[in-house]
Amino acid sequence: QMHGAATIIVLGASGDLAGKKTYPALFNLYRTGFLPKDTHIIGYARSNLSRDDYVKRITAHLKIQSDSDKQYLKEFLNMTDYTEGQYDQDESWKKLCKDVSAWEEKRGLQKGQKNRLFYMALPPSVFLTVATGLRKNVYGTEGHNRIVVEKPFGKDLESSTQLAKDLGQLFTEEEIYRIDHYLGKEMVKNIMTLRFANMFLGPMWSAESIDNVQITLKEPFGTEGRGGYFDEFNIIRDVMQNHLLQVFSLVAMEKPAGTDPESIRDSKVKLLRHVKPITLNDSLLGQYIASNGKPGYKDDDTVPKDSICPTFATLVLWVENERWKKVPFILKAGKALDNQKVEIRIQFKETPKGSLYEGAVRNELVLRVQPGEAIYFKFNNKNPGLSNKSITTDLDLTYADRYKDMRVPDAYECLILDVLRGDHSHFVRDDELDAAWRIFTPLLHTIDRDRVQPKPYPYGSRGPKELDKFVEGYGVVRRADV
Ligand code: BG6
Repeated sequence: QMHGAATIIVLGASGDLAGKKTYPALFNLYRTGFLPKDTHIIGYARSNLSRDDYVKRITAHLKIQSDSDKQYLKEFLNMTDYTEGQYDQDESWKKLCKDVSAWEEKRGLQKGQKNRLFYMALPPSVFLTVATGLRKNVYGTEGHNRIVVEKPFGKDLESSTQLAKDLGQLFTEEEIYRIDHYLGKEMVKNIMTLRFANMFLGPMWSAESIDNVQITLKEPFGTEGRGGYFDEFNIIRDVMQNHLLQVFSLVAMEKPAGTDPESIRDSKVKLLRHVKPITLNDSLLGQYIASNGKPGYKDDDTVPKDSICPTFATLVLWVENERWKKVPFILKAGKALDNQKVEIRIQFKETPKGSLYEGAVRNELVLRVQPGEAIYFKFNNKNPGLSNKSITTDLDLTYADRYKDMRVPDAYECLILDVLRGDHSHFVRDDELDAAWRIFTPLLHTIDRDRVQPKPYPYGSRGPKELDKFVEGYGVVRRADV
């Protein structure tokens, strides 16, 4: 499905997010034929950049792999412009609006075709100022307007509600696209298909068969250079209240009434309303310390010396419904750990006591989100040959082996294309955000109020030494390869 013409305005065009994510995604969409040639991209920022500087900056982030890419790059750069301006001055915004209109006129666009997409690649501090300036001065009346925003959406339920209210006075819910880039990842998008297109999985997908679910995001690097931001937000707000909770929603929600965006989001909200707010008892918090020549979290000059900010957390969610009765959903995330991995691990129940194969290794279904998408199922098989011993083995669907010629698009590519098409399925709705904050806010407030001390763990380790015991307490059986 192609989409109509649009002007894409990248706010904060000289920043990190725009360079690393937005422009590469736009370029890839263009290269692969998903961005029409008559799209116009305007970068807007406060930096005083000549067109040449701007082009150089963008180009530095784009991967050119072949001669045809070189040609695409030339065409792509021709589609983009840069406008310098302030965030709090109507004059600047008016100038931007003039630039947008001039191009719309030049293209001969008619009423109804003058679509504008505002991509906010901006820090939260200027967020509302920019949205206000845009609404007042750049909002189009002869086509649709869409605004793309990205977390942080507030710091707790209260601030998030306030932000939603303020933004809601400027743009309608229909016009707002809240990005959670995990929803654009291939394996995350696959969860719906896996669960609902495979009949055999349905009856297994509940407390009847499942013992526990672990959703893990491990990163091997610290917060180097982002200490200022991170100390205010911590690991829970940075990746758990959003990314991991979205993954959890897709794994645990009931089957939506349809595959349309509202049905999917209704289903998620319904689930989240059944989740108990997380307690401190159901949490293990950690903070990394220096090890093997790598700095500790507090060695960063932008971090207060007495910071209690968790850079690691394991939090257990409980769903109060029939399907998930007594099944712990264990969310784990951390910086400066031993490796890089995002996965969903569903651990099935043991064979019953007194049954033929009592004590057989538990079945596990693992969905690896990254690096390298894979689904594998651990099960017991007779050791081939003369022995009757059972061995544990994998049914293995590693994407790189099975889908050899396929290119997995970056999450941002999928999401920007969705915005152009007007599809909200993979974006966060306002009531979903509320429901998400409700689950995490009491814990976050307790941590701040009681200054809960995180457990130390060495940079590059698996996490605090208390981890194994903690998850075992929830029935997790850890295997040697986990
Ligand atoms: C971002 C967080 O939202 O997600 C980062 O702010 C984190 O701290 C990143 O590293 C992880 O995303 P990805 O796509 O690299 O797994």
